[in-house]
Amino acid sequence: FFKYSLLALGGLTSYFTYITYVELHPKTQLPQTSTFKDGSPRKNLVILGTGWGAVSLLQKLDTTQYNVIVVSPRNYFLFTPLLTSTPVGTVDLKSIMEPIRHILRRKKGEVVYLEANATDIDPFNKNITIIDNYQETKNITYDYLVMCVGAESTTFHIPGVKENAIFIKEAYDSLKIKDKILNNIERAAFLDINDPKRKQLLSFVVVGGGPTGVEMAAELQDYVNESLSKWIPEISKDISISLVEGLPNILNMFDKNLIEFTQNFIRDSNIDLLLNTFVKGVDENSVTVEVNNTKQIIPYGMLIWATGIQPREITRKLGQELPRFQTDRRGLLINSKLQLLGAEDSIYAIGDCTFHTGLAPTAQVAHQEGRYLANIFKQLHKLDKLDWESKKDSNQSDIRQAQIETQRKYILEHKISDFQYSYKGTLAYIGSERAIAELKIAGRDYQLRGSPFAFLFWKIVYLSMCVSVRNTLMVSMDWCKVYFFGRNSV
Ligand code: FAD
Ligand code: NAI
Repeated sequence: FFKYSLLALGGLTSYFTYITYVELHPKTQLPQTSTFKDGSPRKNLVILGTGWGAVSLLQKLDTTQYNVIVVSPRNYFLFTPLLTSTPVGTVDLKSIMEPIRHILRRKKGEVVYLEANATDIDPFNKNITIIDNYQETKNITYDYLVMCVGAESTTFHIPGVKENAIFIKEAYDSLKIKDKILNNIERAAFLDINDPKRKQLLSFVVVGGGPTGVEMAAELQDYVNESLSKWIPEISKDISISLVEGLPNILNMFDKNLIEFTQNFIRDSNIDLLLNTFVKGVDENSVTVEVNNTKQIIPYGMLIWATGIQPREITRKLGQELPRFQTDRRGLLINSKLQLLGAEDSIYAIGDCTFHTGLAPTAQVAHQEGRYLANIFKQLHKLDKLDWESKKDSNQSDIRQAQIETQRKYILEHKISDFQYSYKGTLAYIGSERAIAELKIAGRDYQLRGSPFAFLFWKIVYLSMCVSVRNTLMVSMDWCKVYFFGRNSV
């Protein structure tokens, strides 16, 4: 047993050393050129975004076949499933960020990255206007465009939310929450114990009982129970955490047994769970809610808003360019091959910027769509080459023309299939080292309901989903650090 364990350990160490070496030592890349060696044109492929969809596409894409340009205001990939762990220091924010250039420099063919926002897309002239952080604008043209700009947090136009609440969507939101928690704690510690302001400062309200809100409330409660209670007990006992949900239950996407279990679990862990409580307005100190047609006021010291997502401005604008085809305000409409309706020959759209019934806006969906598109672009490259060959020489023999046509047909019929989503399951962290899971394995449904094994499984799944060995190791080390030494954000 000892011998085999040593062998396994040796194997694993060599594997990680090799992967880390490959990650840290990018090879020389083939430069971008306007034509290939045979004279055929190399097409421009523009990818908007550096999130789940874009990175999964880029990881699989053969970048030697296109001149690939990536445009995004974010020069890193953010591993969102662990974002709610970062404001309280369970995981360090840096551990879930992977610089986009690390990903791009590992590709065989050069990829250009531009840190900018796409502000306008002209689908008729295949032109995009982009603007960088210093308000410099540029126009870039594309032969193919992939929209993977994600979505933004929605407020449902509820007054006061934008001005007073903190979202939990981007890396900077995590920093804002962390700052707010620490400031409120120190301000409260400064005040007299009977000062009503102290109670308000220590009241943390999370709105939205979807998985984001539940995980955020759970992480806050862990922080209070496991860290603050040890180091600032006089403050920790006065902190209140409320989770506000407008519907009769939280976590709508889960089975009702798991919902029931989680609601009881959350209540037992001291989170004030307010169901059927719809937020109607927000000011700088309190939230106005409606419960059974009566209005109530909930004072808060920190308000976190997690009520779902809505399309970004660039997504809405692109939809407005194609009004006959883009008729849904919830996102871009695409066909079964992920082509944008109205611009099927040149624009693809994946992830949260799209809307299709039956598919939730999740990383799982965006990731699978990105992988699917990488294969589509491989096939499109072959089709483009065949087109070029067939048009280049009009004197070509009929036999060659017929061969080209047969090859084209074969690719279209056998190599470009419809996108098929394969649902693997859903996981959510519910606090106190417990998680719930709904899994689909070999067509059968399984549930994990808050056991320590479910938590271990949750950890293993998320570690395996990290986009680099660096991220995997950093997250593992953060978890070990918290286990042995506690959180460091006190
Ligand atoms: P994103 O990953 O959001 O990427 C969008 C990219 O586009 C970003 O790089 C952005 O900077 C860029 N961009 C924005 N505007 C522009 C512009 N104008 N021009 C160019 N680029 C632009 N899903 C799961 O499946 N499991 C989970 O556990 C899970 N946990 C989550 C936890 C949290 C806190 C959050 C917020 C989401 C979670 N999700 C989870 C959902 C998941 O993160 C999204 O579904 C996923 O990120 C969608 O991928 P995307 O590529 O469409 O968009
Ligand atoms: P969501 O849309 O899933 O949930 C938002 C919740 O807010 C809903 O339950 C809604 O009823 C509630 N709400 C809306 N307006 C309200 C109001 N005014 N007052 C009170 N409650 C209100 O949004 P969430 O959690 O941000 O998730 C977005 C997407 O990301 C989802 O598709 C989700 O599946 C995915 N995600 C997945 C995770 C996971 O798999 N563990 C974790 C986080 C997000």
